[in-house]
Order: sequence, then C-alpha cells, then structure tokens
Amino acid sequence: RAPSPIAAALLDHYDTHARTLAWRVPPQQRKAGVLPDPYRVWLSEVMLQQTTVAAVTGFFNAFTSRWPTVEALAAAPAEDVLAAWAGLGYYARARNLIACARAVALDHAGRFPDTEAGLRLLPGIGDYTAASVAAIAFNRPAAVVDANVERVTARLFAIETPLPGARPQIRQKVAHMLPPDRPGDYAQAMMDLGATVCTPRNPSCLLCPVAEFCEARVCGIAESLPVKPPK
Ligand code: ADE
Repeated sequence: RAPSPIAAALLDHYDTHARTLAWRVPPQQRKAGVLPDPYRVWLSEVMLQQTTVAAVTGFFNAFTSRWPTVEALAAAPAEDVLAAWAGLGYYARARNLIACARAVALDHAGRFPDTEAGLRLLPGIGDYTAASVAAIAFNRPAAVVDANVERVTARLFAIETPLPGARPQIRQKVAHMLPPDRPGDYAQAMMDLGATVCTPRNPSCLLCPVAEFCEARVCGIAESLPVKPPK
C-alpha cells in the first residue's frame, strides 16, 4: 500500500517535537533503531490508563528505581507494590500489574511476549495495552487507539458518528495509515498530537503538522468532534 502522507507528516513532526518522557528512548537512540525496554513500556502504559502523563511520571520513576526489571517487580511483596501504587488510584490495576509481572517472570523467563496476540494472553493486559506494547516496544504493526487517537482520527476524517459506534471506523483509519517501518513512533506521535495540539477544546490547528489533511478543520467542526454518545 502507498505510504500515508498523513503518517509521514506526523512522523516528521514527531522527530523534532516528541515529548521527552521517562519511558521513551532519546531521539538519537531512536533514530539508531534502539527500542525501549518492554517492561518500562508496559508499566507506563498501564499507569497511563485513566491517569495523565504529569501525574504518572513521578510514580513511574519511583517504580523503576525500586524495581528496575519485571523480575524484581514480580518478586516484590504485593503489599509493597500496592503501597507504592497509592495515589494512582484504581487498585484493580495494581493487582493486575502484580499478576502480569509474575506471569512474565515465571511463565516467560522474564521476557514479555513480542506479539499483540501473545501479550493479550497475559493477566490484566487488554486490547489497548497489548497493541501499545507490541507497537512501541517491538515495532509490531498494531493499531493503538486511546481517547487522544480517537479524537485526532475523528477530526482528520470528519467522522460524525457518535462514540462508541464510530470506533470500528476510527480503528480502520488508524490501521490504514499505519507506517510499517515505524508503528511505535506513529502511535506515540498520534498520542502526543492529541495531548498537545489536537486538544478537546481550542485545538491549535495553526500549529498542527497535519492541518492540511484535516477534514474537520476545513468544515470548521474540529472542536465538535468526536461526537459523544447521547445520554
Ligand atoms: N498516553 C498513553 N501512552 C502514551 C505514550 N506512550 N506517549 C504519550 N502519551 C501516552
């Protein structure tokens, strides 16, 4: 399939504007093909579900200092991990985190499975986490769709179907644009764009690297998308 000009523009922008986040590899290393540690990718993606980047960073640094590997985390007493998790909320996630770390350590010799399907079989790993770890840590061509990606995509293609009904169409667009050589950077470029430029209110279309492709901007309806489900 022909490469997507939207993905190409997004990746160019990401190369110079990627946010510096604790779980990312620096641009120099990324350009050299260095992939991030799957343990750190997995931990960050679990923490980032329903919690902001700003709130997660301190917890991520504390966890990875104290438990630098999945085997270290797996060996920790559950009560220590739950106590360290306090403040992030959603205790079920911390329980799942422990179960998953132990499964990777005990059943997979401390190595995360390197495919979306393999990851999906681990305890507490759902569709989103499996796709994000497969794409970011292993460069697998997985479509990563979170709320930021939904918003960016609904706007690019002026998808006016309300959520959640629009999800299959959004997923199909995300998969269709996916650049086979850089799935992880593509996923994170979409997430960064949604977090910093293509924001829910007052999107910064003048700063957007894909504004020229955005159907919602042409129609003047960017801020009204995606359409929320009727109450
Ligand atoms: N939100 C969830 N995962 C993210 C990531 N890897 N980069 C930026 N924002 C995110």
